[in-house]
Amino acid sequence: MKQVKHISRLFLSFFLLVAFHTSRSQRKTIDQKVDSVLHLMTLEEKVGQMNQYNGDWDATGPITKDGDKQSQIRSGMVGSMLNVTGVDHTRTLQEIAMQSRMKIPLLFGQDIIHGYRTIFPVPLAEAASWDLDAIQLSARIAATEASAAGVHWTFAPMVDIARDPRWGRVMEGAGEDPYLGSLIARARVKGFQGNGLGNTDALMACAKHFAAYGAAVGGRDYNSVDMSLRQLHEIYLAPFKAAAEAGAATFMNSFNDLNGIPATGNKYLQRDILKGAWKFKGFVVSDWGSVGEMIQHGFVKDNYEAALVAANAGSDMDMESRSYIQNLAKLVKEGKVKMEVVDEAVRRILRKKFELGLFDDPFRFCNKERERQQWNNPEHLRMEREIAKKSIVLLKNNGILPIRKQSAKGSEPRNIAVIGPFAKAKSDNLGFWSYDWPDDSTRIVSVWEGMQKKIGADTRLLYARGCNINDTSHAGFTEAVAVAKNADLIIMTAGEARDMSGEAKSRSNIHLPGVQEELIKAVYATGKPMIVLVSAGRPLIFNWTADNVPAILYTWWLGTEAGDAIADVLFGDYNPSGKLPISFPRTEGQIPIYYDHFNTGRPATSDSDRFYRSAYLDLSIYPKYEFGYGLSYTTFQYSDLRLSKKKIKDTEKIDVTMKLTNTGKYEGEEVVQLYLRDKVGSVVRPVKELKDFQKIKLQPGEAKAIHFIIDKQKLSFYNDKLQWIAEPGEFDLMIGASSEDIRLKDSFELVK
Ligand code: NOJ
Repeated sequence: MKQVKHISRLFLSFFLLVAFHTSRSQRKTIDQKVDSVLHLMTLEEKVGQMNQYNGDWDATGPITKDGDKQSQIRSGMVGSMLNVTGVDHTRTLQEIAMQSRMKIPLLFGQDIIHGYRTIFPVPLAEAASWDLDAIQLSARIAATEASAAGVHWTFAPMVDIARDPRWGRVMEGAGEDPYLGSLIARARVKGFQGNGLGNTDALMACAKHFAAYGAAVGGRDYNSVDMSLRQLHEIYLAPFKAAAEAGAATFMNSFNDLNGIPATGNKYLQRDILKGAWKFKGFVVSDWGSVGEMIQHGFVKDNYEAALVAANAGSDMDMESRSYIQNLAKLVKEGKVKMEVVDEAVRRILRKKFELGLFDDPFRFCNKERERQQWNNPEHLRMEREIAKKSIVLLKNNGILPIRKQSAKGSEPRNIAVIGPFAKAKSDNLGFWSYDWPDDSTRIVSVWEGMQKKIGADTRLLYARGCNINDTSHAGFTEAVAVAKNADLIIMTAGEARDMSGEAKSRSNIHLPGVQEELIKAVYATGKPMIVLVSAGRPLIFNWTADNVPAILYTWWLGTEAGDAIADVLFGDYNPSGKLPISFPRTEGQIPIYYDHFNTGRPATSDSDRFYRSAYLDLSIYPKYEFGYGLSYTTFQYSDLRLSKKKIKDTEKIDVTMKLTNTGKYEGEEVVQLYLRDKVGSVVRPVKELKDFQKIKLQPGEAKAIHFIIDKQKLSFYNDKLQWIAEPGEFDLMIGASSEDIRLKDSFELVK
């Protein structure tokens, strides 16, 4: 036996050695190939590789109609196209690229943000699942579908930390926390890129928007960002670093200026941090027109200067502003941009084209049969439903949920009224950044349809729309109230239309839109038991509903299978397990609000303690729903906290154990959250920081021991010299069901 082990160890070392050399030589081969192509290219062709145009089929930004793109592709002036999708379209353009002198294949990029054909929950909703495997799987399926349609590259994941729900793009990221955000960034990159570029089901990922786009002042999209470098590194760059470490093939820079320097022309971000300190080997694409927009920023005089600044700062590809194609060759000839800058950018781009295998076969993603197979893959819908269920957050429940599928034995048949503008909604379930496919209306499952499939023969569903999503008409109220009076139970649907959160969708008022909350009040006045479903891309404000209605499920924008997933939760086939990845404010005046704030010199410790305190006189110090919050149909008990050591050196670890028991009647999952507080630091530390979590499934009555490890990494932060260090001193350890619902506490010390 021993010998077998020895031989297998020998074999393993040999195998690893061969694998190491093979991968080195493969890398070398790609670099050599890149150089041999580069060597043959004219300056103009090189600049062409750095130029990306929007296709004319669809647009996700302001379109520039300027002539014949196809002839520019033919003459080697275009390296990549965005918004060209489908095997037929991509093949047509790739065939034209093959007529160019160098025959360099085009890259096709598209915003595959939460699914391509099968639409998954919006990224913020998925983040509420705290289920990294599920999140990775959703990206994997999106990649499988999109790559089968000829796409090579998704402009995702968006890993911007977002702490201002007025900002429309909160829907696109993982919320407010750098730790959760980093793990999700990694899961999404891995999901998109699968087993690696070179496989025909891999999509290149693009971590965006580099950087700090989510901190736009006032939550107004595209707005300026001003922040300390410490905060930048600790909070906003953390998920980007995780994405780079996970091997993201590309990065996208951002529209905003950071401390006065537009990100697109920001050398510190792109050259010093990303390509320097982080050793990123992929390429950076600008955001749509952001090279040229440096003129409006007042940072450069014209497109000529814009190209100069962006290229030198490390933006490798110009999306849609035409600054590079019009000026870069001239800038090189005039000696303002060094040839090495262009060569380096083109090398990065060509390397990815080689890695994708496009030089071997430019049409390897253009397989009609594969496209057809993936177009209607039922397994993808099944997985979508699973992930959608996990994304739902139970905000309130007085016991009315879950609903019984049949009425109680011997009792009368019952009526359930489904009321509100989302009851029969279809495309509003998909949310922003999703595509309209011709047969969507039959594919997308509405709440109404989902519920119909669940109910027994003795239950009838009644319907009234009541009002529109965002207007002032009360015309439907009377009917809604009449329907409610005939019902035994009311499911109210409310929320935001599909295009109310997303790019350029910042809003100063994030209350439930239109007259929806008035409708809820009017129907509630019938005295019938009521459950409210809120469908949205961002945290909304609905205080009256939250304070009065017995049960609320936050259902976000859940994607194609939304109605089935919601019905699964309503009828108890799935016990909700989502936890909020972002704080929900009480009013817009409380924004920005996030859990890992500093204590200040005058902390308020309760709502009765607000004078001379860091608090508003007219508002609670607490959010409406805090980060990490979410209920279950069952209950969990936290007990038996033990730390293996109370004092450690920074080379040592603490083994933290505790017991989690399902004390309720249903099987359920709990997200056990571990927070730390560094009591005294050379820079002030937050009141608590999420440092670990586990999602645990338990049967009723079942208990499990849970283990966490505390090591130096978890105790470290950026000091004022931007060094990542752990300082000796005392730490509080808190374990709980949310950032406020702390169930177990202890402390330990880091010693020299
Ligand atoms: C602008 C958006 O900011 C970016 O996220 C997106 O990828 C591009 N447009 C391309 O659609």
